[in-house]
Amino acid sequence: MRELARIDEQLFPFPIYRELREKTPVRFDEDRGSWDVFRYEDVHRILKDPATFSSRRGLEVRGETLLTMDQPKHTHMRNLVNKAFTPKAINDLAPRITSITNELLDQVIQNGKMDVVHDLATPLPVIVIAELLGVPSKDRMLFKDWSDTMVKGVEGNSEEAFAQMVAERDKAEKELAEYFLTILNERRNKPEDDLVSALLVAEIDGEKLQEQEILRFCILLLVAGNETTTNLITNAIRLMTEQPAIQDQVRQHPEYVKTTVEETLRYYPPIVAIGRIATQDVEIGGQLIREGQQVVSWVGSANRDPEKFENPDTFLPDRKPNPHMGFGFGIHFCLGAPLARLEAQIALEIMLSRFSDMQFAKAPLTPIPSPFVFGVKNYPITFTAR
Ligand code: HEM
Repeated sequence: MRELARIDEQLFPFPIYRELREKTPVRFDEDRGSWDVFRYEDVHRILKDPATFSSRRGLEVRGETLLTMDQPKHTHMRNLVNKAFTPKAINDLAPRITSITNELLDQVIQNGKMDVVHDLATPLPVIVIAELLGVPSKDRMLFKDWSDTMVKGVEGNSEEAFAQMVAERDKAEKELAEYFLTILNERRNKPEDDLVSALLVAEIDGEKLQEQEILRFCILLLVAGNETTTNLITNAIRLMTEQPAIQDQVRQHPEYVKTTVEETLRYYPPIVAIGRIATQDVEIGGQLIREGQQVVSWVGSANRDPEKFENPDTFLPDRKPNPHMGFGFGIHFCLGAPLARLEAQIALEIMLSRFSDMQFAKAPLTPIPSPFVFGVKNYPITFTAR
């Protein structure tokens, strides 16, 4: 969006969302050739109606995934992966998430300072998903390099830089797919207690997932789950250092950790915009959207719509109910939400109990260079070990 041209706007886009929501709640952006929708009610309506607002991307060259399928194919695939990605499988990870978090913090606690992004929020989700998938620990670094490359943005804005990024990403994706294929074959012969083994046996009405579908799904988990969880943890710490009173409040009331994570998903959501394509002419907010046009739902704006939330620009660590759309809504509602919630809750709980007085160690911040994502590439803090 041309409105988000400056770094300070990318680091804090909410006043712009507010202005657009008030002045042009549904507008066509000529530069991008796309509709933008800012009100809660309209975003909700779009995400609730996948028949009219499709997730199929026109030029999907990297193969279909859950994220880009429509019904009925989506329902079938989602039911299949749900058999492996169960709440129990996720909850069983809690002790491991706790020890990984503690180990990562052990490495920085003597220093009295850390970079939240590099020292905790990036490695934690990568290690957890690697363990969940069944990647042996000897391959962890290899795996981390691949997954970093998969989500790495463009450095600079030249065409060469873009072409290089695409080439690197495609190479990493290919190598990852080959790597997962080896794991898949090993598990087929000798199943273990991991997600890949569970995906191999998942079955509905005699139908199983094909090899290519499992590979693509494993890669989707990395792309959809790692950077988003990194940003959720970092955004929560950013908020608590910007508003230290909230840090104290949650430290005194550990029972607020859960609602604080939800409030972060509302107030500082890692994904601020979700794209769809209209499958037929449709009216939203008095505007006619034509079949085939792209529609972007600005969750970052909807989550602060005063028609839906009281005092929307106030962070309430115990806000309830909190019908934010930080994980989307409807049939594509984030599959990884239970895992992301668990990781963020554990990370916050442990940071608040091991550190007192977390403060932003003032340094220039670099926003993640995508208007669809809200997050920073670095977030240095100081703290006192408790
Ligand atoms: C879908 C956000 C973490 C896997 C989504 C969607 C959102 C979202 C907004 C809906 C996209 C749409 O409607 O087009 C987030 C946020 C996360 C997070 C904010 C962290 C805080 C994760 C994790 C995983 C994951 C940890 C897996 C390990 C997925 C998958 C989908 C999805 C597979 C597609 C579901 C479908 O299309 O049925 N996520 N996500 N996400 N997410 Fe997440």
